[in-house]
Amino acid sequence: MTKISMTVDGVRYDDDVEPRTLLVHHLRERLGKIGTVVGCDTSNCGSCTVLLAGKSVKSCTVLAAQADGMDVTTVEGLSTPGGALHPVQQSFHETHALQCGFCTPGMIMAAVDLLNENPDPSDEEIREGLEGNLCRCTGYQNIVRAVQHAASTMRTDVPTTPETAQQSQPAQPGASQEVTT
Ligand code: FES
Ligand code: FES
Repeated sequence: MTKISMTVDGVRYDDDVEPRTLLVHHLRERLGKIGTVVGCDTSNCGSCTVLLAGKSVKSCTVLAAQADGMDVTTVEGLSTPGGALHPVQQSFHETHALQCGFCTPGMIMAAVDLLNENPDPSDEEIREGLEGNLCRCTGYQNIVRAVQHAASTMRTDVPTTPETAQQSQPAQPGASQEVTT
């Protein structure tokens, strides 16, 4: 067993894990983060995408032990503590960018990373940015539309005071609480 410590959706967790445990299985089975889903387990579909140290990764390609000491954000950590959805989550909802919804957590996490890098992407750049994420329902048109809509919202939603800036931020890992599982 290997002792690891990571901050997931703002909460620190200390655990003993098998060295071979994948991050996605640790998140789901040990920490209960079932919003992150497993579609293929072979790094093809992107449904398991999370942010690791702020960058999107397929969590079935990372060992839990490799995330030791790092911040992880799952789709469950994007909304504010008060429950307000992240603009990308809200936009997927409003523009009907999902059908069965299985690919949606990974699509949203990849889109968040994409918009952090490029706040004003073209449709082509969105398609390129999300090309590692597959949707079996083939809803790509609305997904691109959702990311454009979220980008527009995030560009215009400029906080004017430190207080509103704080309120408008999605929940970020910040060791507000410590949990040993
Ligand atoms: S489950 Fe990780 S890429 Fe498919
Ligand atoms: S909405 Fe069904 S897999 Fe994408």
